[in-house]
Amino acid sequence: MSLAESRAGAAPRPKQSPDTTDEESGSAGRPEALLAWYDRHRRTLPWRPPAGTPADPYAVWLSEIMLQQTTVRAVGPYFAKFLARWPSVADLGAASLDDVLRMWAGLGYYSRARNLHACAVAVAVQHGGCFPDTEDGLRALPGVGPYTAAAIAAIAFGRRTMPVDGNIERVVSRLYAVEEELPKAKPRIKALAETLLGPSRAGDSAQALMDLGATICTPKKPACALCPFMDGCAARLRGDAETFPRKAPKKTGELRRGAAFVVTRGDNVLVRSRAAKGLLGGMTEVPNSDWHAGHSDAEARAQAPHLAGITRWHRKPGVVTHVFTHFPLELVVYTAQATSGTRAPAGMRWVKIATLADEALPNLMRKVIAHALD
Ligand code: ADE
Repeated sequence: MSLAESRAGAAPRPKQSPDTTDEESGSAGRPEALLAWYDRHRRTLPWRPPAGTPADPYAVWLSEIMLQQTTVRAVGPYFAKFLARWPSVADLGAASLDDVLRMWAGLGYYSRARNLHACAVAVAVQHGGCFPDTEDGLRALPGVGPYTAAAIAAIAFGRRTMPVDGNIERVVSRLYAVEEELPKAKPRIKALAETLLGPSRAGDSAQALMDLGATICTPKKPACALCPFMDGCAARLRGDAETFPRKAPKKTGELRRGAAFVVTRGDNVLVRSRAAKGLLGGMTEVPNSDWHAGHSDAEARAQAPHLAGITRWHRKPGVVTHVFTHFPLELVVYTAQATSGTRAPAGMRWVKIATLADEALPNLMRKVIAHALD
């Protein structure tokens, strides 16, 4: 028995498989140590009820959907705004999709907002306003994938399951020094993460791992001395915790380029709505060209909107860059001033610059307009 295993209550050895390294099979985390740490150090988060009180499934679901794409810090104000405006899932289901998209603007990935609304409608209409309380039932809802279903099942309903997000992947891959690369290692990491569930308090175990990953077992310079798994962590014992998780090199899409056209008329700006389906579906944008890898300036310029009251286009120095999931984008920005009374071309409209915050304006377009008006 190793020194670490001989410590009181060391974790049961995960079964050794042919691709299990020596480090991986060593002692690691104890579910009770994790919960004891969580009871002392849990983060206070807007969607977390006080210790020992049951969580509201609606709040858990809303926070998990929002947290899929951004940080705990960024989600806070959005979560508060949504809950104040729509205190129950039935209220959210009864809202218009436009209002939901407007409130979501800035969080990105607008298909998630569409699914959020569709899910609220499904829970209100098909489930009488109560979320299903099993992982399978939750998984059948729009926008609820395996991770989110497990998170809600564990946190809101105490189901004995472990959602595995990026933080948990990092903690577990270090704890067991998992040499296999992500994403191939996902099933193995999930199985190892499940060994950290105790007989009860699954939601707390999951949130404890999330907090541990966010505050102690950080990507850079982990604070191993403060970790409840310090003695059993295989990567720490090897001295290379920071190098986990192993990752296959990222395949980023090819850079696409295009042009955006910011036309002002006094204190108005010209906008249009994107097609309902597809990337940023239904969101507000300034007129812009196609985006593609073989972009030429002349071709993009030819796609500028035609307005009678415009005499000159100015090209703003620099570019606006944005990274979508599947490709990076670079837009050059042209500006023009239209004379008062200039009519918007078909399918476009003038909106007051001061009321742009009320539009479902994606981050990319916020950057474009800020660059143009700079
Ligand atoms: N990240 C995703 N879900 C979370 C939660 N419930 N608590 C903290 N961080 C999270």
